[in-house]
Amino acid sequence: MLIAVTRPVSASIAHCQLTFLDRQPIDLARARRQHDDYCRTLAELGAHVVSLPALDDCPDAVFVEDAAIVLDEIAVTTRPGVESRRAELASVAEALAGHRPAAEIVAPGTLDGGDVLRLGREICVGLSTRTNREGAEQLRALVEPLGYRLTTMRVTGCLHLKSALGRLDDHTVLADLPAVTLPASPPFDVVAIPHGTPAFADVLPLAGMVLVPCGFPGVARLIEARGFPTRALDLSELLKAEAGLTCMSILFEGRHNA
Ligand code: GLY
Repeated sequence: MLIAVTRPVSASIAHCQLTFLDRQPIDLARARRQHDDYCRTLAELGAHVVSLPALDDCPDAVFVEDAAIVLDEIAVTTRPGVESRRAELASVAEALAGHRPAAEIVAPGTLDGGDVLRLGREICVGLSTRTNREGAEQLRALVEPLGYRLTTMRVTGCLHLKSALGRLDDHTVLADLPAVTLPASPPFDVVAIPHGTPAFADVLPLAGMVLVPCGFPGVARLIEARGFPTRALDLSELLKAEAGLTCMSILFEGRHNA
């Protein structure tokens, strides 16, 4: 069964980290409704949604993806690039402990889950304002012995790799190309989207369709033209906190014996 680990929107989300966006007022009640819709959609598409306890003193705690990377073999607790987010880690690690053997990124490495895109046995890691080379190399040391190949890519002008590069399937990504420096022979096909639509590459493929944020029909049409049906979700309040679709869940296959 597919498990989706999530966490409610914190009461303090108005004080979230912002790196590339200007601060705007966030309507907390509306953000919570949008997050409820997101969780309901994951459940409708077959995921077993696990909601972690709220962390109201951690403004960014709804963005659980940044706290861990779950592969088939291990769960890696990250070390987010901003100090304020490290208090989110313990409860995520605890929730994953019954599902996978644990590993972790340690100082001086930093790594946000939003900078890690897995395409089958290929793992792309964005070097960003949050993820440093040391964090990426620690992840490489964990995953390459398991048979994954890790490739690093420089990210500029947006928060995370997944703000600029979104998985459509294991061989195809949506890309805001100027925001990410791809290797000469990337291990995937690229569907380019117009530059300057940060977070709109951050789409979530699930159960034969691709979840996309509302408001960018041109991006949805590009995805549909490649044969992927889309479903749009309203994330307007959450996007003001520099959200993306993938960053509000950690998705992985549960084990029968977990
Ligand atoms: N506001 C999301 C983050 O900066 O981590």
